[in-house]
Amino acid sequence: MSRIEEALKKAAEQRGRNRTSSSESEVPDVEQQVPQVRTLKQRVNALLDVVPLKINHLMLATARDEKTAVVEEYNKLRSSLIALTSGDTFLNCVMVTSTVSEEGKTMTALNLAISLAKEHDHTVLLVDTDLRRPSIHKYLDIKPEVGLVHCLRDNLPIDKALIKTGVGKLVVLPAGEAVKDPVDLLSSNRMKAIVKELKERYPERYVIFDTPPALPFADAGVLAGIVDTTLFVVREGRAKLEDVVETLEELKHHHLLGVVYNDAHSFVNRQSYYYGNY
Ligand SMILES: Nc1ncnc2c1ncn2[C@@H]1O[C@H](COP(=O)(O)OP(=O)(O)OP(=O)(O)O)[C@@H](O)[C@H]1O
Ligand SMILES: [Mg+2]
Repeated sequence: MSRIEEALKKAAEQRGRNRTSSSESEVPDVEQQVPQVRTLKQRVNALLDVVPLKINHLMLATARDEKTAVVEEYNKLRSSLIALTSGDTFLNCVMVTSTVSEEGKTMTALNLAISLAKEHDHTVLLVDTDLRRPSIHKYLDIKPEVGLVHCLRDNLPIDKALIKTGVGKLVVLPAGEAVKDPVDLLSSNRMKAIVKELKERYPERYVIFDTPPALPFADAGVLAGIVDTTLFVVREGRAKLEDVVETLEELKHHHLLGVVYNDAHSFVNRQSYYYGNY
């Protein structure tokens, strides 16, 4: 690699931390007129496109190239999801929710999306629809300036807010900013149109939506009516059983794909009881 390319790569890595969008809106006018400059810009952009984000969060095991038991579990989840969504109609818009906070919705959405994106030929779009307490950008250590909120509120075109991560074929639509009461935004016709556009623009692509907890807020219930199906996360020892049942009751009118039992100590203990060191 030449010194210029090394310098570009470093700049790209730095830019990765501050990534804002994958659009081409940043091209200054002068480049329209000077072909050499445009060529250089294109080369820089090509390089920027292939520099993956450095994902350091310990819980994002799927982003690393190790084949651990945790990665295996997410890959199994990916296989189940592909099997369950690939019937006569492709259920490609999948929402992830849970009863209460901190059950691992965002971790599940992220690891599942990365696992799918690293699998050959699976382009994945991960959308942060937790507009109350968005966290996907935090886990990815990026600082997007715009996101879904701006697409909904200010009519920003979606492609101005998309971020290519360079991790497999994973693209992220961040929340952009937190809002106090997002139900109006999420239940708007604009939101329905955005989901339709995301679903139909690339019909082969999975679109995963991360959401706030479903018991205290109406957001997930609203989204469940717009997406194709819901993946429900239950973290061991976190929500009360009656609350889990009540939340599932509320979601029962919509398609439920399955339940992810997260952070399952009792299951692991039972397995080691039955299988010893295995
Ligand atoms: N299986 C797990 N083992 C250990 N820690 C976990 C596990 N799943 C999630 N966590 C941790 O729990 C915390 C909450 O996870 P996460 O943000 O994914 O939850 P959430 O359901 O999205 O929360 P919120 O409702 O606030 O959005 C994080 O610190 C995460 O690292
Ligand atoms: Mg979350």
